[in-house]
Amino acid sequence: MGAEVVIDGLTKSFGKQAIWRDVSLSLPPGEVSVMMGPSGTGKSVLLKSMIGLLKPERGRCVVNGVDIVTCSEAKLYETRKLFGVLFQDGALFGSMNLYDNVAFPLREHTKKSESEIKRIVLEKLELTGLAGAERKLPGEISGGMRKRAGLARALVLDPEIILCDEPDSGLDPVRTTYISQLLIDLNAQIDATILIVSHNINLARTVPDNLGMLFRKELVMFGPREVLLTSDEPVVEQFLNGRKIGPIGMSEEKDSATMAAEQANVDAGHHDGSPDEDLRGVVPQMEPTPGMPERMGIRRRKDRVMRILHTLPQAAQESIIASLTDEDRRRYGMQQPHAMAAAPQQNQQPQQNQQPQQNQQRGTQTPRYGQGDAVPDQHAGQLPADRVAQVPGSGWEQPAPRGQSGPGQGRP
Ligand SMILES: Nc1ncnc2c1ncn2[C@@H]1O[C@H](COP(=O)(O)OP(=O)(O)OP(=O)(O)O)[C@@H](O)[C@H]1O
Ligand SMILES: [Mg+2]
Repeated sequence: MGAEVVIDGLTKSFGKQAIWRDVSLSLPPGEVSVMMGPSGTGKSVLLKSMIGLLKPERGRCVVNGVDIVTCSEAKLYETRKLFGVLFQDGALFGSMNLYDNVAFPLREHTKKSESEIKRIVLEKLELTGLAGAERKLPGEISGGMRKRAGLARALVLDPEIILCDEPDSGLDPVRTTYISQLLIDLNAQIDATILIVSHNINLARTVPDNLGMLFRKELVMFGPREVLLTSDEPVVEQFLNGRKIGPIGMSEEKDSATMAAEQANVDAGHHDGSPDEDLRGVVPQMEPTPGMPERMGIRRRKDRVMRILHTLPQAAQESIIASLTDEDRRRYGMQQPHAMAAAPQQNQQPQQNQQPQQNQQRGTQTPRYGQGDAVPDQHAGQLPADRVAQVPGSGWEQPAPRGQSGPGQGRP
């Protein structure tokens, strides 16, 4: 299983320019997470901080007990071997052909023979659709090919943690789907912990187990995908729908005059290209290609999400509960939906813990957990401020937050 990455109170600036502050989240082991955020909000800086290429002023980033921010150079060198990183620009060595670029980490970090290296390099180039291009220099191939070569290089050490900075940028939509599928298949095969930085709304909706967003120097949210995909937070809503109307502007800070002018244009009938329908909502998640092993992260995530279910917003709870199979319901000590529907006829005075809870607003039936069940009663309302920006991993308890991290953060 991939390693857990625990980020706690991370704060980074360049001189007087604050990039983000008090970022706390945990990448659950073996799960796939996506970080979204407008351009320039520091997503790439976050990835580079996670592997010690940049030094945050405060906070920790802990992997296997090693704090990347403060550890020695020797520890950092060791710990980095756990990571496979696809940088935003591919970061290939311009003077090396693709074969040597992809072979580089193996030659640098292992004692493998050249024949073993050849087998691995050709396998990864094949996996990323680059078979036959191994003798080309980075300057001789397309941007999308460079990206895929960067991904091939990120995979050669069979990393426990894979960080991908915009794997889709420069790629056509078909190749983007193939790369998404490749990452899901990899997760199924090696159970690696994966973090993908992306602007791609379709990828954000269909690929990850967990979804987060950076905006205005804060982590707005990070949590199970259902939380962001059903969120009413204006910045999340605007981003997922790709709308002009909302707090995100062409530059980072959109002033109220600009917001008012844009709204007036829309009110006057101006069509700005935004989708007519609301693209939020939980859609089916991409599955491993048939024949691949089952994703172990899916079961672990379900257990984890069910443990924190009562802390999630109502809409996210409903979506998670609706996705449970009959087997899940048995596992979590919940009633079957048909049994709940039949209960009042069978028993005129049903026990409290067998009553479905009617949600008037949405017209859906939400089962309740009974007393003594593994999962406590749900409560309506917003996620508490100290819970949404973290995903508790196995056995790890996050310390009390220092700042205002939560769903309200980043609100205009
Ligand atoms: N090495 C550096 N020195 C100084 N400033 C930097 C450095 N790296 C990044 N920055 C600044 O940090 C901010 C965040 O940059 P970053 O590349 O992380 O944004 P991003 O969210 O990845 O954007 P995009 O979606 O466009 O890739 C930017 O203002 C950038 O200019
Ligand atoms: Mg970037």
